[in-house]
Amino acid sequence: MDLIMGMNSGSSFDGIDVVLAETEMDADGFPKAPKFICGGSYDWPDDVKEIVTASFDNKVDMIGLNRLNYICGAVFAEKAVQFMKENNINPMDVKVLGLDTQTIYQEQPDHKAIDAMTDEQKADWPHRWLDGPYPAGMQMGDSSVIANLTNIDTVTHFRSADHTWGGSAAPLMPYLDFILFRKDEKPSMTLNIGGIANLHVGCKGRRDMFGFDTGPGNVISNYMCRKLFGVEYDKDGKIAASGNVNDELLNHFMHHPFFDRPVPRSGWIADYSAEYIDGVIEKFKHLPKEDIIATACAFTGAAVAKSMIDNIPEEIIKNTDKLYASGGGTRNPQIMKEIQARVPSNITVTTSADIGVPPEYKEAIKFATIAYSTIHCVPGNIPAAGHASQYAILGKIALAPRHIKGGAQL
Ligand SMILES: Nc1ncnc2c1ncn2[C@@H]1O[C@H](COP(=O)(O)OP(=O)(O)O)[C@@H](O)[C@H]1O
Ligand SMILES: [Mg+2]
Repeated sequence: MDLIMGMNSGSSFDGIDVVLAETEMDADGFPKAPKFICGGSYDWPDDVKEIVTASFDNKVDMIGLNRLNYICGAVFAEKAVQFMKENNINPMDVKVLGLDTQTIYQEQPDHKAIDAMTDEQKADWPHRWLDGPYPAGMQMGDSSVIANLTNIDTVTHFRSADHTWGGSAAPLMPYLDFILFRKDEKPSMTLNIGGIANLHVGCKGRRDMFGFDTGPGNVISNYMCRKLFGVEYDKDGKIAASGNVNDELLNHFMHHPFFDRPVPRSGWIADYSAEYIDGVIEKFKHLPKEDIIATACAFTGAAVAKSMIDNIPEEIIKNTDKLYASGGGTRNPQIMKEIQARVPSNITVTTSADIGVPPEYKEAIKFATIAYSTIHCVPGNIPAAGHASQYAILGKIALAPRHIKGGAQL
């Protein structure tokens, strides 16, 4: 067995999750389902947090971004090393570290426009991005800084390979679901509730998979909690539980233009920007604050149900009895309750703990698994889910100093 490490800091920007897991290559050429060993969560340093948060709002200039890329690399490396010290892990025993680093900006692909392009237009590579509809995103955390400071081979920035082939590269979860469910006869549905929520169908046919963002996970509730209650998030859903869902506000949320984007769609916090949420708060300021938070939770649930019913074939929905949820949103009972109340009644909402994956660490396990696949040249994208035109080996590999050769010259 090989030890693999993964890290995640998502759009909620609530902290850095780190995991150690083990796996090995299976006879079918893919990694075995990774086995979770241990995990930890670490806070971003306050001074760095301030810059990253400003960068979400496009308020950091080029000079600042240049430094931020190195700073984030240093923070990720520091937390990885702290995690290894706390858990008595020797970096020399870890085969690979995988992390996407910190996304600060993401532009969505226009799949319709990409499909409409001629081969000649696609062959003009710079124009895919100069004035074309290809997606592009920006992640902060330099690969080489991390590999050099941790002394572990590091794979980062998983999205741009899929983007090159016109894929959304978000969500990336379908690959881990493929690894977890590829031996099952029946398809399974999974849902990750981070800042943004995404829904997936995992099955043994890699060409039959789905994966797309459903809308907000915690992003709206978090922002409203900060703005209306001065707290980072609605701990255990207590605020939402004390309010009532307001139908008019829910209806307003459900008219968000996000739903006009065909799947595979991906969302980014810009879809639920401060400006958008401030507008909602202003329009519905006559409501009790608790009702606004309760309705934000209901929106997460309603968006999951709508996205599922609109986009997943009825046959699959009918054949699915469980929805395995993961991400920090599983810790909010109101969100879980709202999802359960709104999805088709044959589906029971549970968490990925049922299949041995701690919900709060699924994303970090995903990045560890993709990194392990990358160093074995196994493609980690799922074209059927993200609409890339071909398979790609994801990520940028930075080798650790422990491999240094050079003989007497050094
Ligand atoms: N005890 C809890 N009660 C309610 N919500 C929680 C709890 N713990 C975490 N969360 C929610 O989960 C979010 C973090 O989820 P996470 O999966 O880490 O998202 P991301 O991948 O975007 O970082 C927090 O911002 C918060 O909204
Ligand atoms: Mg997080």
